[in-house]
Order: sequence, then structure tokens, then C-alpha cells
Amino acid sequence: MSLPKRVFLTEVGPRDGLQNEQQPVPVDIKVGLCERLLAAGVGNLEATSFVSPKWVPQMADAAQVMARIPRPAGVTISVLTPNIKGFEGALAAKADEVVIFGAASEAFSHRNINCSIEESINRFTPVANAAKANGLRLRAAVSVAFGCPYQGEVPVSSVVDVVKRFRDMGCDEIGIADTIGVANAEQVKRVLEAAAREYPLDQISGHFHDTYGQAIANVYASLQVGVSRFDASIAGLGGCPYAKGATGNVATEDVLYLLDALGIETGISLEQMVDAGQWISAFLGRKSMSRAGNALHAKKLSREEKAQAA
Ligand code: HMG
Ligand code: MG
Repeated sequence: MSLPKRVFLTEVGPRDGLQNEQQPVPVDIKVGLCERLLAAGVGNLEATSFVSPKWVPQMADAAQVMARIPRPAGVTISVLTPNIKGFEGALAAKADEVVIFGAASEAFSHRNINCSIEESINRFTPVANAAKANGLRLRAAVSVAFGCPYQGEVPVSSVVDVVKRFRDMGCDEIGIADTIGVANAEQVKRVLEAAAREYPLDQISGHFHDTYGQAIANVYASLQVGVSRFDASIAGLGGCPYAKGATGNVATEDVLYLLDALGIETGISLEQMVDAGQWISAFLGRKSMSRAGNALHAKKLSREEKAQAA
């Protein structure tokens, strides 16, 4: 299959990225990051989560962040909503899209959202109905689709079962997530092809954490089966508080570097994303996890030094 001509990226850094930070990140910094990401041309920004502040304290300021971020025309601002209480927060904050997040393993479902897969579907159904009734886009994520930190292997049939449940709820997009970054490229193809037998390929997205350094290979494998939607996180920030040791999502800068080289349109400026990645990494006091971001930044500094010396 030929590669897609255009890819839609959802930038999840402010949510998946920052949710995992131990140090409190002030609202000003979260808003500053969102401003930079939007200025770079991000078309879908996963800005925050309306989840229990007891479970994820870093996201307790969701409403304040939402009140302050810019809302450029045509850009989708998405937020996580595990239940109807979360949905009400999202609606009040004028989110464009809500994300329900289930799991392909019972063990992870209990750890992450404190209920079984079946119970989670029962909680998501009113969220899905309310999203439709209010004209919000509805996205779903299927966590631990390639391996679970508590259960180990996850059968493809378990992933497909959850995909079917989300399809029947009317989801506009379903993300297949490698929460702990253990997937390999051939496995990714198998799982995505199986999902695409039950749900339109052009509405499937890939969400790959990079714990084992496989995420960019997994993005490429997904492109080869025709997937054209991906989540990515600026500077490779993130992880899930309920998947210890898992590192962040594939870095947006690395994905853009690949897509630009392949001539695939995204509408996002790699240069501006590199600057955004360096900016948030400087705030967090550590080096960016994006290899492409660091290389391009070093090149820029060296160009500037040469220009000054001349
Ligand atoms: P629970 O304790 O079973 O919920 O948690 P509950 O309904 O019994 O409520 C307990 C308390 O939480 C109550 O407050 C509720 O009001 C409050 P209290 O009466 O004790 O003061 N509460 C809420 N507060 C704010 N917003 C809400 C909300 N809901 C209840 N929406 C619950 C169940 C789902 C709420 C909890 O487990 C939770 O919030 N989990 C979120 C976990 C999370 O955010 N994980 C990380 C995101 S998922 C992820 O990273 C994976 C992904 O990236 C894909 C991948 O990589 O796999 C998407
Ligand atoms: Mg994630």
C-alpha cells in the first residue's frame, strides 16, 4: 500500500506529557506550551484531562488551562473524560472533542480507571451520547493494546473487542495505544490490520510510547498499512501514572522529521515545534527526549554562532 499523502497529528504533550510530571507545572507554563504548539500549526491539541484530581493531581487545573488557551479557528481542542462528571467539565470549558479511554486488559482497566472493561463501557456510553447530543467530536483510546504491565501479553482479539464496543458507541476516531512502548513493527501491522477489519482505517490512530525506542518504527509500520492519524508528544514528554517506568509518547519533532522527509503533509512547522520542545524541556530542567529536536536545535545554535562570528 502506498503511504498516506497527509497525516493528522494530535499533539498530546500538554496532557499525556505533563500528567506524568512529579513537579507541579504552573498554569502559565501549560498555557505557554499550548500557545507555542498552536502557533506551530497543531490541528488537534489534547490540552488537559477532566479526571479526578485525587488520581492525577497535575490535571487538577483543567478548567483554568482551558479558559486561557487560544482557540484558533479550525483547530480541535480535545480533553480526556473518563465519566459524565469529566464530560460536564469538558462541556463547560467548551472542548471540541472528548476522549474516552478504555483498556484491552482487565488489570490495566482497574488500575487506571478503577473499574472492569464492562463497567468502563457502561460509564462511557452516557459520555458518548452526551458528546453526540452536544455536537462534540468523540475519540476513544484503547490502552495496552500491545502489552500490559500487569497482565503481560494482550490477545489481538481483546483489542478488537474493545474497538467494536467503541465503534458501536459512534466514536469518530479510535486510538490504538502502546501504553508501555513494547510493540514492534510487525505486531503493530497485525493489530492495526485486525482493528481495520472492524472499523474504518482512516479513523484509526496510533499512540505509541517510546519506552523501548520502537515508536518511530511503529509509526512507519502504521503508515505502511495506511494509518494516517497519530498522537505525538512534544519533546517526547510523558507516560501514564498507572504504567510505571513507561516513557513518553513518540516525540512530535521526530515524527515530523520522518513525515517531512517522506513528503507527507501535516500543516505543522517542524522548526517551531523544535523551539517549543526546547522551551518546555528548559522549564522542566532536562534535555528533550526528541533526538531530531536536539539535533536540529544544535544545528540552529551553531548557525547562529557562525553568523555572530562573521
Ligand atoms: P473512582 O474513585 O472510582 O471514582 O475513580 P468515583 O466516581 O468513585 O469518584 C471518586 C471521587 O472522584 C469523587 O470525589 C468524585 O467526585 C471524583 P469525592 O467525593 O471523593 O471528593 N471524580 C472526579 N473529579 C473530577 N473529574 C472527574 C471525576 N470523576 C470522579 N471526572 C475515575 C474513577 C475514572 C474518576 C478515576 O479513576 C480517574 O480519574 N482516573 C483517571 C486516570 C488517568 O487520568 N489516567 C491517565 C490518563 S489515561 C492514559 O494516559 C492512557 C492514554 O494516554 C493512552 C495510552 O497511552 O494507553 C490515553
Ligand atoms: Mg499515553
